[in-house]
Amino acid sequence: MKPAKVRATAAQILASLLRQQGSLASLLPRTTDMADQDQNQMALLRELCFGTCRWYHQLNQELGSLLDKPLKNKDADIHCLLLLGMYQLEHMRLADHAAVSETVNATVVLKKGWAKSLVNGVLRQYQRRLASADSRSDDSSLTYAAWLVDTIRADWPQQGSGILTAGNQHPPMTLRVNLARVSRAAYLDQLAIEGIEATPGTLAESAIYLAQGRAVSTLPGFSDGLVSVQDEASQLIPGLLAAGSGQRILDACAAPGGKTCHVLESLARHGDEPHTMLALDIEARRLGRIEENLQRLMLAAPCVHLQAADSSEPASWWDGIAFDRILLDAPCSATGIIRRQPDVKVLRQAADVPRLVALQHKLLVNLWSCLAPGGVMVYSTCSVLRDENDRQILRFLAETPDAQEIPIAAKWGIVTDAGRQLLPTDQGPDGFYFAVLRKTTPESGKPDL
Ligand SMILES: C[S@@+](CC[C@H](N)C(=O)[O-])C[C@H]1O[C@@H](n2cnc3c(N)ncnc32)[C@H](O)[C@@H]1O
Repeated sequence: MKPAKVRATAAQILASLLRQQGSLASLLPRTTDMADQDQNQMALLRELCFGTCRWYHQLNQELGSLLDKPLKNKDADIHCLLLLGMYQLEHMRLADHAAVSETVNATVVLKKGWAKSLVNGVLRQYQRRLASADSRSDDSSLTYAAWLVDTIRADWPQQGSGILTAGNQHPPMTLRVNLARVSRAAYLDQLAIEGIEATPGTLAESAIYLAQGRAVSTLPGFSDGLVSVQDEASQLIPGLLAAGSGQRILDACAAPGGKTCHVLESLARHGDEPHTMLALDIEARRLGRIEENLQRLMLAAPCVHLQAADSSEPASWWDGIAFDRILLDAPCSATGIIRRQPDVKVLRQAADVPRLVALQHKLLVNLWSCLAPGGVMVYSTCSVLRDENDRQILRFLAETPDAQEIPIAAKWGIVTDAGRQLLPTDQGPDGFYFAVLRKTTPESGKPDL
């Protein structure tokens, strides 16, 4: 791909995103489908798309003041081309003249040569604005929709600004060592031999932070299943679920299988296997990702079953035999992982939150009926919004007489009205919420702790 074509492709992807036709994960081509010589262009394409989303609201505001009149809907690609041109000038270490000329050339690739002088004029103007500004505003909230800023600040009066700042940063690359196969210390040694700088995580015993991101194919033992890429917060799940040998385990929202595999790895580490691990996801096409991970990590086994199903409707998939452990890693606003998925800033609308809260509640209530007395459910989200987290669980506890919270004894995170919240921090874990719930036994009427 030529440089102008990369920019034109990025503009088309961003225009589709603005039309809510998919996320960056679904719209960007998969790197595995590409020839080696295209990998650099792919890195540029990703950087243009991710970066423009990260700064979208601020760039869009600036663009509004540079245009005499808004572009027509049918020219959303040119609008996005302007945004990504501005992103290059402000945030990328590229020579300005190259950034401007390749972005202008992209108009021809898009078969909109009429926009050449418009793009050139706006970008030159922006270049002058950047050069003359005494200081750029460092108000991190400018890169978010106003409703999200208000909600985060209302939920977290003390920590709100830190959450917003963290969401503008680049995330660290975090690995999960497969402790069933290799110790963290031994894997750190392997990284050091390869000259890869890394440090152990402090919350999860399997976590390693790399000083620099890199392609997974260059990680020692990746294809043999020694490591996976997973944020440290997510790696806390097996410790909370505390699954044991011979148990029936349900991972109700499982794709792409990060936590399914981690729970199985944690059992395998002690030579254990569940009676059943049922991994469900409503998106059938995403089950393939779970299968890939199970194969790579050598965890595929007759006791592991994958099924496309709506977890909130157990009548459609459940055989009536209760589970000892249920992981409900619920669909959520993803506001705790905005630095990893900056398109959340563009895609998420205020009205999504009550819709997600209702879905999470339905999942909680209906999956609870599948849990055995004495069994444990872990509810988690990658959200920092309290309606999806502690308020959701408080309501569930109030409505469910046989549910009792098991307080999480840990040094990490913030104890909330129910459960525990991690907030995103620079070079640390993502924003994540956890609650551990046990079903009381009929005999005791109390949780079987
Ligand atoms: C937070 S992601 C799960 C991530 C996964 N647990 C992991 O660690 O890799 C939430 C998942 O829930 C799935 N989902 C959403 N609604 C669902 C439903 N009603 N039933 C089952 N899965 C659902 C989505 O397709 C998505 O894959």
